[in-house]
Amino acid sequence: MSSDRSTWKIKSSRTANQAHNPIRAIVDQLKLNPNVTKSLISLSIGDPTIFGNFNVDPSINEAVAKQLNSYQANGYPPADGTLQARKAIAEANSVPSAPLAPSDVILANGCSGALEMCVNVLCNEGTNILLPRPGFSLYASLAATRFVEAKYYNLLPEKNWEADVAQMESLIDEKTSAILVNNPSNPCGSVYSREHLEAILKVAEKYHVPIISDEIYCDLVFEGNHFFPMATLTSTVPILAVGGLAKKWLVPGWRVGWIMIHDRNGVFAEINQGLHQLAQIILGPNSLIQAAIPDILEKTPASFFESTIQQLQDNVKLSVEALTPIDGLVPVNPQGAMYMMVGIEIEKFKDIENDVQFSAKLLDEENVVCLPGECFNYPNFIRLVITANRGRLEEAYQRINEFCARHRK
Ligand SMILES: Cc1ncc(COP(=O)(O)O)c(C=O)c1O
Repeated sequence: MSSDRSTWKIKSSRTANQAHNPIRAIVDQLKLNPNVTKSLISLSIGDPTIFGNFNVDPSINEAVAKQLNSYQANGYPPADGTLQARKAIAEANSVPSAPLAPSDVILANGCSGALEMCVNVLCNEGTNILLPRPGFSLYASLAATRFVEAKYYNLLPEKNWEADVAQMESLIDEKTSAILVNNPSNPCGSVYSREHLEAILKVAEKYHVPIISDEIYCDLVFEGNHFFPMATLTSTVPILAVGGLAKKWLVPGWRVGWIMIHDRNGVFAEINQGLHQLAQIILGPNSLIQAAIPDILEKTPASFFESTIQQLQDNVKLSVEALTPIDGLVPVNPQGAMYMMVGIEIEKFKDIENDVQFSAKLLDEENVVCLPGECFNYPNFIRLVITANRGRLEEAYQRINEFCARHRK
């Protein structure tokens, strides 16, 4: 035995050392000021349930209660999810241009778990993945902990956050393992047109790069916009589309997500098998909710979704109307999801140097929390979550207005 084992020398793994959540790292620097008496208004957490105004539909609770009382849904579900749940998801999302069989669906621990499996099956250490900038920070964290290089394609605020497709194309090389597209987007609230999605698909097709399409905000789109599942627009590009209950059904804590494997001409045969193998490692979401999925997908009334969208839309209108007149802020009108990016014209402020400082001072002086764009790899913007109720939003924007007036040159 070498002398190396003569004492305790325990080091954390390479994976743990790579694990980094930029949101936590930045948010942890934001400190509450104990001397501010104004109530705290948090516009930073993408959880629609925290204000009490976005509630789950009673039919969804009933679907779960039915399973709870049946005593039939307490055992280990199959590794890739119960057949009934996979069948329900396949049927709800199948269209002639993108057919899905139950075996094309895999249940996962939230959409996050689904994304993790997609990265695990497509990317090896040393490859690269194309990610949106600004983008949801989990993507970069997943890449980093797998020693996969993140290459960023730019989203353009002046084009409603469409991707710069030419720049995206320029990033692709021999080692590119996937392009990740998030539509509707967190943090941008953008919803892509058919033409734009087709332009991205054209690049993927030209270089034979598969797509991971994060569609967790599917159908959460405002009047005048339309959500196109990416897989319905191609007969050649293979796509792993991910979704879940978190946002559309307003139950992020239930941790139910799924992968829909859209093979094209058999090119995903190995990936399909690989995902089913990966699913064997950790069982997916809990058995009760899985058992309730067929009822949840079939029986949630359309009025529930309509009312969610109406509330979000009203909040967007209020937010844009309140923020647009504030000199120094440039809100970008969202078309869906639950977020809004607001540009900061830093040069107009006398004592604020960047978005992180803007957020820190806003919290310190006004007790309003918003995430600096830095959390999404996009400086000089802030991201607002627009799910608070009207009164709280109005109060927050009033405080932001006063804050900007105090700090403007
Ligand atoms: C774009 C995006 N993808 C995935 C997720 C993760 O979803 P889940 O809570 O189901 O893991 C989120 C959560 O905020 C998100 O914004």
